[in-house]
Amino acid sequence: MNKGRILVTGGTGYIGSHTTVELINAGYSVVIIDNLSNSNREVLDGIKNITGVMPDFVEADCTDMVALTALFDKYSDIKGIINFAASKAVGESMYKPILYYRNNLNTLLNLLDLMPKYGVKGFVFSSSCTVYGEPDVNPVTEKSPIKKATSPYGNTKQISEDIITDVVNSGAPIKSVILRYFNPVGAHPSAEIGELPNGVPQNLIPYLTQTAIGIRKELSVFGDDYDTPDGSCIRDFINVVDLAKAHVMAIERMLEDKSDKKIEIFNLGTGVGLSVLELISAFERATGVKVPHKIVGRRAGDIVKVWADPTLANTVLGWKAETSIEDTMRSAWNWQVKLRERGVM
Ligand code: UD1
Repeated sequence: MNKGRILVTGGTGYIGSHTTVELINAGYSVVIIDNLSNSNREVLDGIKNITGVMPDFVEADCTDMVALTALFDKYSDIKGIINFAASKAVGESMYKPILYYRNNLNTLLNLLDLMPKYGVKGFVFSSSCTVYGEPDVNPVTEKSPIKKATSPYGNTKQISEDIITDVVNSGAPIKSVILRYFNPVGAHPSAEIGELPNGVPQNLIPYLTQTAIGIRKELSVFGDDYDTPDGSCIRDFINVVDLAKAHVMAIERMLEDKSDKKIEIFNLGTGVGLSVLELISAFERATGVKVPHKIVGRRAGDIVKVWADPTLANTVLGWKAETSIEDTMRSAWNWQVKLRERGVM
C-alpha cells in the first residue's frame, strides 16, 4: 500500500538517505530535493540497491523559492516534509555565519511558507542536542534549559525551533515534530549508504574509521583532562538507522493524527553516555581493528558531557534505540571498507 508522498530535503545526505530508505520500506513514496553541496548522486543508487526503488530526485537548493515552487507544482501530492537540508559544520559556521543563517533559515521559511499553499500537513525538523549547550544536569530531557548557542550553527537550530513554533501557533494548518538528535553514527548494515564527509572529517567517527583504514595517520583525542571518569568528553552516540526510523514514526504521528498536539519535541538518543575513549575501545572490540590515537589539547567550544533522556520518545512516539554500539561500530567500519573497495577513498 502506498501511504503517500513525502518530500525529503537534503535526502542524499547522511541522515536524509537513511531516512529515505526507512520511508520507502514503510510504504511511502519519496521525492528528494538536494543541492548536492555535501553529497552526490551515487547515494540514490545506494538507496535503490537497498529498497529496490529509485526515489524521485530534484537537484535544487531549498533557498531557491522558484525551484521549490516548481517542485510543489510538479508533485502536488506531497503530504509531509522532512527537512534535513542545512549546513551543519559547527566550526565553519564561526567564520561563515551569513552562509549558515541564510541557508538554514531561508530553507525553513520557504518550506513553511509553501506548506499551507499546497496543503502539506506535517513537518519534521532536524534539530540537535546542541540547543542544550553544556547542561547542568545529565541526562537532558526536553524540558532542560535551552542555553545560549555557542555557534551560528547552533543558533540556527534554536531560531528554527522558535520559527516553527511561531508559525504553528499562528494557526497555520501545519503540524510539526522537532527531533533533537544526539550524536548520529554508523551506517546502513548493507554498507550501501553511510556518512561521506567532504575533505578532512571534523566529526569523530569518520575521522576514526579513516584512521583505522590508514587514510589518516592517527586520531587526535581532544582532551583527557575533563571532569569525566576517563577525562575525555562524553556523548550519546545514536545509530543512524535507529534515528531514521524515528522520522517515519514522527511523520505517521502527524499524518494519521495520532496526537492532538500541533507541535511536539523529542530527544533522540540512547540514554547512555559514552566517552570518546570508550567509543574508540568499542570500535576496536567490535571490529578487531586498532585505531592509532593520541591525546591532544581540548577543542575550542566542545561540550564536556551530554546525553539524552529519551523517555518521551520511548513512551509517546513509541521509538527506542535498538542497535548496540558494537553493531553500530561494525556498520561504520563496513561502510569505510566498502568506500575503499569502490575506490572512493
Ligand atoms: C557537534 C555538534 C552537533 C552537530 C554535530 C555535527 C555541539 C555540542 N554538537 O557534535 O550539534 O550536529 O557536531 O556536525 O555543538 N573528537 C575527537 N577527535 C576528533 C573529532 C572529535 O576527540 O577528531 C571528539 C570531540 O572533541 C567530541 C566528540 O569527539 O568530544 C564528538 O565530536 P563530534 O563528532 O565533532 O561531534 P560534536 O562536537 O559532539
